[in-house]
Amino acid sequence: MSTLTFTMIKPDAVRAGNIGNILAMINQAGFRIAAMKYLKLSEQQAGQFYAVHAHRPFYPELVAFMSSGPIVAAVLEKEDAVASFRTLIGATNPADAAEGTIRKLYAANVGENAVHGSDSDENAQIEANFFFSSLERF
Ligand code: CMP
Repeated sequence: MSTLTFTMIKPDAVRAGNIGNILAMINQAGFRIAAMKYLKLSEQQAGQFYAVHAHRPFYPELVAFMSSGPIVAAVLEKEDAVASFRTLIGATNPADAAEGTIRKLYAANVGENAVHGSDSDENAQIEANFFFSSLERF
């Protein structure tokens, strides 16, 4: 059964000119794009999106980075979307990411790691709703 996940192409990958390469990998892996937008988060919005990490030492750095430039936000649909997408992007730290994954190819380090992917079906819904209204989802 098709399910949803949520992704962002982060400011590092946008700055490096990798939007097209990453979208091509997402397309080739069989995901359907259910929603997509190109935008820049404010510090307040980035802090709200990552509020679950507010107690972590890297939170200020994460918020500053995620509001440092434009991102691509998207909702993706596929069978077992959350797990399938996490396989496609690789480990959070690109040093641990498998060969051929998006983070292995395009991420520099654990902070600037090219893409975000939801970690559960529940969070995929919460994250998709953060960015998209029902009128923006197809
Ligand atoms: P993401 O999947 O977007 O979810 C939380 C983010 O926090 C994660 O990707 C990383 O970019 C970031 N993160 C996790 N661990 C660290 C760390 N040790 N230092 C800096 N950033 C981190």
